[in-house]
Amino acid sequence: MERLQKVIANSGYTSRRKAEELIQSGKVKVNGVTIYELGTKVNTTDLIEIDGNILQKEEQKVYFLLYKPRGVVTTTNDDKNRKTVVDLIDTQMRIYPVGRLDYDTTGILLLTNDGVLANALMHPKNNIDKVYIAKIKGLVGKEQINQLQNGVIIDGQKTSKAKARIKKYDKKTNTSIVELTIHEGKNHQVKKMFEAIGYSVVKLKREKISFLDLTGLKSGEYRMLSPKEIKKLYFEIK
Ligand code: URA
Repeated sequence: MERLQKVIANSGYTSRRKAEELIQSGKVKVNGVTIYELGTKVNTTDLIEIDGNILQKEEQKVYFLLYKPRGVVTTTNDDKNRKTVVDLIDTQMRIYPVGRLDYDTTGILLLTNDGVLANALMHPKNNIDKVYIAKIKGLVGKEQINQLQNGVIIDGQKTSKAKARIKKYDKKTNTSIVELTIHEGKNHQVKKMFEAIGYSVVKLKREKISFLDLTGLKSGEYRMLSPKEIKKLYFEIK
């Protein structure tokens, strides 16, 4: 439920102050009843009329940056009733995740109701960097790193150019930490890319999407994007 004057202002019809004046002068009806009270709350299904014209409500756009924990599904609704990324965010708005992180993958995930931005961020032509840190079973060689960078075949298609570098070897546990930066977002892409060069991913975290990272957030926490960040993201896709 939102205050009537806020709903009118958010629709782009007029400013909040002018909306208040319209209400006080008896020009606004909710579900056929004239409203004079400024505190009146309405919900999204209420019919609002101003001077006899139906108000077209434009949905306000919202943008969340979530540090996705392990054991949560990246969907709006899970048929097995598991916890979803949307369940972690306290909002009335109908948001959905931008792209997907696997159940066991952690890291940065954007959620929004802005379809234009969501689609653009997912489209490989916009070259949005997605940076992953992968813990790999075995010691990954330089030659395999080159293969990842030049593209490997997954699901019958060659992946586009990527950046890859070894961050650490642990000879005791026989594991490597590799940073991989890709633009595409095919299903299980990182795991499949490592599979294609003969390795398996033990742990996977997405650390960055373009200039956005997880600074200041703990696993399971989220924050809203600032207007400046939203502008910058739009700039990235142009
Ligand atoms: N690639 C994967 O394999 N899994 C993810 O969750 C994200 C990218």
